[in-house]
Amino acid sequence: MSASPAIRVIRQTHFAGLTPAARGKVRDIYDLGDKLLIVATDRLSAFDVVLPTPIPDKGRVLTQLSLFWFNLLKDVIPNHVLSATDFPAPFDKHREALEGRSMVVRKTKPLPIECVARGYVSGSGWKDYRTTGEICGVALPAGLRESDRLPDPIFTPATKAASGHDENISFEQAAALIGKELAEKVRAVTLEIYRRAASYAEPRGIILADTKFEFGLLNNQLLWIDEALTPDSSRFWPAAEYNPGGPQPSFDKQFVRDYLERIRWPKTPPGPELPPEVVDATRAKYREAFRILAGRELD
Ligand SMILES: Nc1ncnc2c1ncn2[C@@H]1O[C@H](COP(=O)(O)OP(=O)(O)O)[C@@H](O)[C@H]1O
Ligand SMILES: [Mg+2]
Repeated sequence: MSASPAIRVIRQTHFAGLTPAARGKVRDIYDLGDKLLIVATDRLSAFDVVLPTPIPDKGRVLTQLSLFWFNLLKDVIPNHVLSATDFPAPFDKHREALEGRSMVVRKTKPLPIECVARGYVSGSGWKDYRTTGEICGVALPAGLRESDRLPDPIFTPATKAASGHDENISFEQAAALIGKELAEKVRAVTLEIYRRAASYAEPRGIILADTKFEFGLLNNQLLWIDEALTPDSSRFWPAAEYNPGGPQPSFDKQFVRDYLERIRWPKTPPGPELPPEVVDATRAKYREAFRILAGRELD
């Protein structure tokens, strides 16, 4: 057996003389003029705090899974991907660090809303439903339990808060921000992507409870940007363990959340280091999500 090459774990990119335009919670973004280089690092955030310990393979899973979905669903809407293999100079010198986790994309003007589709009542949707009987102004049947499936998937937009705590808004509020016509268009596209992805995932044993998309405009064309249907942007539930009436185990972050609860971390920065067994188990879940959905092993 040949030894496997050392896996490269990157918590933050550092390329001499090159400054990222932004470092998000997970991605480092380099401005290439009319393009962006988006590098998914191995950072993991929990309860909106980025933890100090990176998860090996996480960045590659996010990028490879996004590429998989962008390609699978390109007939629904065009996306921002230009290349995941060719990095323009001077980034070509850093191919080893970038490969597998990075994509060159068209730079767009991102819409100022998060486009969320929900097929199940969970998270902030459950919170809103419990207090108002609605989510984002969408009236729902009475008597739903936490994690119940909705009669039909719904569009529940949110504002993009810089702090990370997005706020749910109604369709009318979204329309006031981006215009009615565009709001109707992104609602239709969001629901169509959700339906297609959920019916792809479910027979493979993963319930896609909800997911968040971003869209951007380029020369009046609407493009699907950012990431696509990853464990970070979506609630994946193991279908075999689905048991409505309470919260469901998260496919990917359950070990991390359980650990953080166990040590009674107050959920305020700084986040604690994760022990190796939590890192390993989490890494395995990200890889498993990729394997199940993309239908192949992450190479
Ligand atoms: N094609 C694109 N054009 C412009 N901005 C983009 C594009 N794709 C992604 N972005 C932006 O890049 C950032 C991705 O980095 P990420 O680490 O996910 O940030 P965040 O912490 O805000 O989620 C987001 O702010 C997203 O809006
Ligand atoms: Mg993001």
